Order: sequence, then structure tokens, then C-alpha cells
Amino acid sequence: MNGIKIRGMGHAVPSHAASNVDIAQVVDTSDEWILTRTGIRERRYCTEETSVQLCVEAAEKAIAVSGISPDEIGVCIVATLSPDRMIPATACMVQKEIGLEEDTLCYDLSAACSGFLFALHTTECLLNACPKKYGLVIGAEVLSRLLDWTDRGTCILFGDGAGAAVVECGEGWPSIGAISGSRGDVEALYVEGPGSEERSYIRMDGKKVFRFAVETIPKCMDQVLEKTGRTLDEIDFFVFHQANVRIIDHAVRKYHIPKEKYYMNIDRYGNTSAASIPLVLSELQEQGKVHSGSRVMLIGFGGGLTWGGAVIEFA
Ligand code: UT7
Repeated sequence: MNGIKIRGMGHAVPSHAASNVDIAQVVDTSDEWILTRTGIRERRYCTEETSVQLCVEAAEKAIAVSGISPDEIGVCIVATLSPDRMIPATACMVQKEIGLEEDTLCYDLSAACSGFLFALHTTECLLNACPKKYGLVIGAEVLSRLLDWTDRGTCILFGDGAGAAVVECGEGWPSIGAISGSRGDVEALYVEGPGSEERSYIRMDGKKVFRFAVETIPKCMDQVLEKTGRTLDEIDFFVFHQANVRIIDHAVRKYHIPKEKYYMNIDRYGNTSAASIPLVLSELQEQGKVHSGSRVMLIGFGGGLTWGGAVIEFA
């Protein structure tokens, strides 16, 4: 199988920022508790923006950075659990706005916080069977719509945003060696659908998900290294799903990852689920911390319970 590389990243976040102090006006919490238990200082909420607008802004930036034209894109996948509409897929709405051609395979993918990883995995497979060599992979969430403001265990955590990647499939390039796993745990983290009598709020057993993440990240990292035949030293940057600073610290300590080789933006955006990994990647590229030739390990985990990992290079 031919592998994919990242040509360009882009991201978009809503303009309204809510600080921990703002949140503490609504629920019984404090800046100190949120910061020390999660690493979050503020998060962005859509007040006027839609998910599609965030996706389009992120995608247009990614396409501009890559220097390709939308008609060269053969696959467009949006990973999301909080779309504007159930039908059509967000990917079809993005297609309309940015003018993707009719033969572009456009659909949404639901794998919670592992969504962007699952979408990259899927895109690599699809591009191997596609006459066009570019894919557009977006992670986007408007989680502020799903917050229960009577549940301080969840409402403090989540935020809105979108990140987009233009990936290229190249003859003879190494596969990203993606791992995509799921456990069939349907209670640890869920949001009821429109058919339910319960409101669609994020419900989470935080402690259970925390334990799952701490156990799963090292397993996933080891599997990805084995599958790609890489060693830790060959990885230039480590990008973890931004769920909780303590979860990332755990992995960083276990693998002795130096400070200059990982990056966190959870303090500014909170947990943005499927958008969190592309938001980090986009900021890394924007700041020049990654560039052509950089090799990045991506690790995601979340509802399902699901997990995903890959090693991807910048073209
Ligand atoms: O992205 C998808 C994956 N999601 C995750 O990875 C989330 C993983 N889980 C977590 O990040 C953490 O479990 C949380 C941040 C959600 C919660 O932190 P915790 O350290 O596990 O807290 P806890 O639920 O064990 O609660 C400890 C105490 C409780 O009080 P008592 O019973 O000890 O008196 C809670 O009621 O902290 C209390 N508490 C709060 N206090 C102030 C829970 N939430 C808050 C809050 N402010 N927002």
C-alpha cells in the first residue's frame, strides 16, 4: 500500500472565549480546580459560527498551504460527533462551499475523539483505490451544543473548533501504519441521539475514561512503532489528543519525551474531541515547529471506547 503524507494544515476556532472564571459563574467549580485537574484555562464556544463555517475556514487554509487545487481532491472526510445537520453529511456541505468535484467521495465519520485518526486511516486506504492523489481530512466539533450545565464533571472540559489536513498519497511512500481499535464500551462516554427521551448531552464516567486513556496510550504507541518499524528516536514530534494535561504528562514521563518534542494547546481550547489533533498539527505547522520531512506520531482515544495511532510525515 502507498502511504500518505501531510501537504498542509489549517484550523479555525470561534471568536468567543470562555475562561474558567466565566464557567465558575454557572457551575460550582473554580479556576484552580479546572486548571490543576485538567490543564484548561479557557475554551472557545460558537456563538454565531456553525460547524460548517469552521470546517470551510480550516479547509481553505489547508488547501492554500498545500498549494493544490480543490479539483485535485478525491476524498473528503469530516470526523465529527456534533454536526450542524444529521443529513447531509458535513463533508457534503464543505464540498458545496469549497467546490469539490462530483466524483469526490464525501462523508462524515463518527469515532468520537479518535475520529481524526480513524479518518486518516480510512483516507490512506481510499486514496490507494482512487484516481486522484489528494484527500481532505477534517476534525470538527461544536461540543458547546452538547454541554449539560448542571454536570460540572463534563461541562468544564469541552470546546469548539476545527482542524483540516490536505494529505497526499505517493507511489512508494511508507504507510502511516495506522492502528484503529474499539472496545464496545457504550456507557463510559456517550451522547443520546434524537430518538431518545433524554436530551443530547455528553455523559461521561471521567475516572473510567481517564484510566482507559492512561493504559491505552502506551499500548497504542508501542503498536504503532512496531507496525511502522520506527523507534522513538526517529519521531520528531508527538501529538496526543488534548483531553487532560495529566493524561499527556503520564505518557510523556513514561517515554521520556523531551519538552521540545510535544505540544499542548488544551489550555486555550479545552477538549475539542475530533478537532484536537488537527488543531495541534495546524499550530505546529503555522509556528514552523514541523515542516517538510518532519515525522509525527499521533495518538487519539475516546468514546467507544476507541483509540487510534499513526506515524505521518509532512511532505
Ligand atoms: O476526550 C475524551 C476522553 N475524555 C477524557 O479523557 C476525560 C478523562 N477524565 C478526566 O479528565 C477526569 O476524570 C476529569 C477531569 C473529568 C475529572 O477529574 P477527576 O480527578 O477524575 O475528578 P473526579 O471525577 O474523581 O472528582 C473528584 C472530586 C469530586 O468531589 P468529591 O466526591 O471528592 O468530594 C468531584 O465532585 O472533584 C469534584 N469535581 C469538581 N470539583 C470542582 C468534579 N468536577 C469538578 C469541578 N470543579 N468541575
